[in-house]
Amino acid sequence: AESTLGAAAAQSGRYFGTAIASGKLGDSAYTTIASREFNMVTAENEMKIDATEPQRGQFNFSAGDRVYNWAVQNGKQVRGHTLAWHSQQPGWMQSLSGSTLRQAMIDHINGVMGHYKGKIAQWDVVNEAFSDDGSGGRRDSNLQRTGNDWIEVAFRTARAADPAAKLCYNDYNIENWTWAKTQGVYNMVRDFKQRGVPIDCVGFQSHLIVGQVPGDFRQNLQRFADLGVDVRITELDIRMRTPSDATKLATQAADYKKVVQACMQVTRCQGVTVWGITDKYSWVPDVFPGEGAALVWDASYAKKPAYAAVMEAFGSRSHHHHHH
Ligand code: G3I
Repeated sequence: AESTLGAAAAQSGRYFGTAIASGKLGDSAYTTIASREFNMVTAENEMKIDATEPQRGQFNFSAGDRVYNWAVQNGKQVRGHTLAWHSQQPGWMQSLSGSTLRQAMIDHINGVMGHYKGKIAQWDVVNEAFSDDGSGGRRDSNLQRTGNDWIEVAFRTARAADPAAKLCYNDYNIENWTWAKTQGVYNMVRDFKQRGVPIDCVGFQSHLIVGQVPGDFRQNLQRFADLGVDVRITELDIRMRTPSDATKLATQAADYKKVVQACMQVTRCQGVTVWGITDKYSWVPDVFPGEGAALVWDASYAKKPAYAAVMEAFGSRSHHHHHH
């Protein structure tokens, strides 16, 4: 039996990752758990467009490198997040359009992937490009208005920038096959594979709600894998109305187990990343007031029932230390 979640995941060749915030690396309770339990790291904000290219053509990797260096010094791999996205664009990019914006996107991908060439094994090249409106179509954005081919241009640019990196499309609300958005993304990936657009993986963010893990999550992952791409769970958290109580925490634990089991049952599902370590710092209450408690450790850094559930799903029993 393994004694950390990362080691439990590694027994099947998978990873267990977390989002790391550079501003929290001075919190020793945070870094103790981060260094012990995970073998994959995503920068929560530090490799995004506003962070890495605050002025056009002037790249800044100081915060991104802080996360990267911490991860590597602690023996972890790094997922890159994210190169082309409608959100968290710096002001100069928000005001661009047309061919100027298209070129700025290409230059941004080249600049960031060039800096991390050979260092970052997988990138979320394009993030959240599909709409939640039930149409299955693209989200309106300045990038989308440069032409429907912006996503494939982003992937072709990324492949040329670092041919060794795995290139992912990453989105939320694509965990359930019956959702139109899922099928929109699926059709894009199928089209890309048919036409030779370089895409290697799909990330299912999985910002879920307690009691609402889609029953067909495993089949959904398998459908995408059958297109010839790897799949991974990239931003898992399972939120509830707060405060939490024992019943909600038990349901949450069962939900975490279902999600990790879904990944374990799909050969091409290579790992699970949770979107943070502790409920103390989760993004959820900022965006959904009155909700939270979505992660595996509570706000006091105590393991929640979800911890043992994830451990079991990876095929290990949770370790109980008996000191006599
Ligand atoms: O750093 C500033 C700080 O100086 C300022 O005082 C404070 C006041 O608002 O804002 C701080 O920046 C915030 C930043 O997080 C760092 O905490 C931003 O306002 C806030 O918008 C930003 O939120 C991030 C969010 O992405 C932005 O879209 C969250 O931390 C991050 O967890 C979240 O992550 C996204 C994924 O990238 C994509 N999928 C969804 C996921 C959750 O929204």
